[in-house]
Amino acid sequence: MRYCSVLLVSLFVLAGCSREPDAPAAPASQIQGSLNQVMRGILYPNSNIIFDAQDRDPGGEADPNDPTASAHVFYQPTYGGWEAVENASIALYEAANLIQVPRKCANGNDAPLNDPTYQKGLAALRDVSMQAYQAAQAKDMDAMLEVSDRLTQACATCHDVFRDKVVDGRPVGIEGRC
Ligand code: HEC
Repeated sequence: MRYCSVLLVSLFVLAGCSREPDAPAAPASQIQGSLNQVMRGILYPNSNIIFDAQDRDPGGEADPNDPTASAHVFYQPTYGGWEAVENASIALYEAANLIQVPRKCANGNDAPLNDPTYQKGLAALRDVSMQAYQAAQAKDMDAMLEVSDRLTQACATCHDVFRDKVVDGRPVGIEGRC
């Protein structure tokens, strides 16, 4: 009995010690980009590297005349090929951290950080980024196909509600409801 209670106490202490400190909020002076600029500058180019790996083998021969072959051409010969897909996956995962700190939308409103749909989109972005990372490490194009589909859904989780103008159930442009 005595042994049990000692164990319980030490478990409790352990749990107490392993609690992570709250992340400090980024000072306002360190925020330069609107949510829209972060999307266009980081999420858009990196997701395209992942989408590209659905139907073009990042490990294959690069065609320097094809301007859309992002993973092939942009970063050869330094961080190209499948490594570009790995790096894009990590960039998207880290981008989730950037879009959960307070910043303005293009229209001047605060980004809707606490909205449950926004939170859901963030969680989906994190999950699928790591799935993309694993698929890139495995150099698995079938998995990239599935991951791309899930990535599109993660983006749409937020965009359906906060961004896109929808007519007859289909996005037809940017409405800016952020
Ligand atoms: C957590 C929510 C969320 C997720 C996840 C998200 N976005 Fe966004 N995105 C937004 C919001 C909100 C805006 C509008 C921002 C504004 O008006 O300042 C936006 C705007 C954009 C824009 C700018 C549109 C324009 O031209 O005005 C692009 C591009 C974009 N997102 C790409 C992506 C891609 C690609 C993904 C997925 C890899 C993604 N976003 C995931 C919330 C999200």
